[in-house]
Formats: sequence, C-alpha cells, structure tokens
Amino acid sequence: MVVAVMGAAGNVGSKVADLLLRAGEEVRVLQHRRDLSSLRRRGAEVVTVDARNVDDLRRSFDGALAALVLLPEDLSDPAFVENRSAMSRAIRDALRDTGVGHVVALSAVAAARADAPGPPGGLHGFERDLGELETTNVLVLRSAAYMDYLLAALPTIRERKANGSAVKADVRFPMVATEDVAREAAERLRRRDFTGHRVELLLGPEDVTMAQATAAIGARLGMPDLPYVELSPDEARGALLGAGMSEQVATLLVDMQLALNDGAASEGVEGGDRSATPTRLGDFLDRALSDGAVTADEEGAGG
Ligand SMILES: NC(=O)c1ccc[n+]([C@@H]2O[C@H](COP(=O)([O-])OP(=O)(O)OC[C@H]3O[C@@H](n4cnc5c(N)ncnc54)[C@H](OP(=O)(O)O)[C@@H]3O)[C@@H](O)[C@H]2O)c1
Repeated sequence: MVVAVMGAAGNVGSKVADLLLRAGEEVRVLQHRRDLSSLRRRGAEVVTVDARNVDDLRRSFDGALAALVLLPEDLSDPAFVENRSAMSRAIRDALRDTGVGHVVALSAVAAARADAPGPPGGLHGFERDLGELETTNVLVLRSAAYMDYLLAALPTIRERKANGSAVKADVRFPMVATEDVAREAAERLRRRDFTGHRVELLLGPEDVTMAQATAAIGARLGMPDLPYVELSPDEARGALLGAGMSEQVATLLVDMQLALNDGAASEGVEGGDRSATPTRLGDFLDRALSDGAVTADEEGAGG
C-alpha cells in the first residue's frame, strides 16, 4: 500500500516522507535533482522523475494508494508560468491514468482567486486541473506564506545588514511553518478520511508583519537593530534578479508582494475549513537559527 511523495527533497515533501517512514508506511519518494539515497536507506523506494514528463509521473504513481502532489517552483526558469502549467496537466493526467485513490495537494491561500498575481496564479490552475479528476479524492491544502521562505533572505541580510522587499513594513499576513503543513499532509495521507474534492486552509497561529519578522530574525542573529526597508517595485525586482531569479519570476513575485499591500492575504480565507497550526514564528526561528541549523535551512529555502 504505497504512498507516493512528490518533492521529497523540498521543505514540505522531505518532512512528509520522514513522518510517513516513522509511522511505518510504505513510501515511494520522487527524486528530481537532489539525491534521496538517505531515504532509500530508511526503506523508501526512490523513483527519479521530471514532473514535466507524464511517463515519469505514471511510473511514480503506479500502484500507489495515495500521493502528495505539488507544483515545483524553479525560480530561475525563464518560462516559469508555461512550464508549471505543463507540469500541472502532466500531474493530473498521470493521476488519472494510474487511478490513485487519495491525493493531498499543496496550494496557497491566494490560489482561491482566478486572477491571483504571482506564483499562486499557477496554483489556481493546478487546483482547477486536479478538480477534473472525477474519481479521485482530492484534499487541497491552501497554506499561508511559508515561514521557511524568510530564510532565503539570510545571505542578503548578512551582506547588507538589512532586510527588504516591496511588501509594506506594517502589513499583517498569515504565515505557517512547513513542519505544520507536512504534519497535516502526512496525517491525511495516512488516514485517507476525505472524499470528493475538499479545500483546507493552513494559516498559522498568528498574522505577522515584515517589520516584526525582520526584528525577530535580527534578534536571533545578534543584529537587534536590523532594519526592514520598503523597496520600490523596481528595486525589489532588481534584488530578485540579483538573487538569480528569471525576469518572469522576479516580475511575478513583485506583483505578489504588491498584492499583499492591497489586502490579498485576507482574500480567499473564506470558503474552506480553517485548521489551526501550532508553530509560532518565534519558535520556528529559534529552531531554524540555532547553531548548526542555519546553513542547511538556507540551502533548503526557496523564494
Ligand atoms: N512559498 C510559499 O509560501 C508557499 C505557500 C503555499 C504553497 N506553496 C507551494 O508548496 C510547494 C512546495 O513547497 P516547498 O517549499 O516544499 O518546495 P521546495 O522546497 O522548493 O521543493 C520543491 C521540490 O520539488 C522538486 N522538483 C523541482 N523541480 C522538479 C521537477 N521538474 N520535477 C519533479 N520534481 C521537481 C525538488 O527537487 P530538487 O530539489 O531535487 O530539484 C524539491 O524536492 C511549492 O511548490 C508551492 O507550490 C508555497
């Protein structure tokens, strides 16, 4: 009774694979670039896959009782939108062809909107594609912004002694820790207690501003006066390009940041079951920025 786990090298998927293995489940992990032999040593079956290739995905899902699926984000991809759309359709087709019974899909709160700016726009399409699976039970986990992604700013913080983006310093928005997302995903993959198509919101225990998040990071890095700088859209775009993102992705992310300033974080919060998750930002940062944890987390943080 195999459970297939996409993105098993990533923030959420790695934790889902770990939890399922600890619980004694038979696990198949989907390997892309990063090596997953440590999971093989723990008993997981490892299948190498490119999510743009429907045959790879069919092999990955074949015979699986349940699957975690996600839309990977290659932030350096010049054709980010087009490639994610292709992956979304390939995942849908492979799930349909293999008849996986229960699917947990990672999405975002903002994906509720058809015209969502930034990467959540692709997730809206992903949810729509999965919605076409008539005989598959699908649970969509719409998460708030991942706290883990704050760590992607650490190199810039160390170099410039400041954090910054186009998000206004005092805009509050929900943030969730990927360990809480993974716990919910793993539990639901094990219980398989959902039927039809359902949406669940994972919003974290508190809403946070970028000023608060920056102060909390600074306090743990021995930089108690670390400033948060509101960047203009052009400055924010330049910073993202400088961090290696493609033109298309940098533009999308700035659009997403500007939408947060217009209250996008509170849109889409209705219409799903809200699930409280326990991890506060301070607790997350205590763990992530403890000695020895920083390097690994910086490597694992996306954009
Ligand atoms: N950013 C947010 O705040 C947020 C909020 C809500 C939802 N989400 C969604 O949650 C998803 C998972 O987030 P995460 O942080 O766990 O992602 P992540 O850490 O970036 O991990 C992505 C995973 O996908 C794999 N992958 C990349 N390209 C692939 C491809 N072409 N084919 C197959 N696998 C591929 C990666 O493997 P390699 O590393 O080996 O390439 C990695 O295992 C995101 O993709 C996003 O859609 C994000």
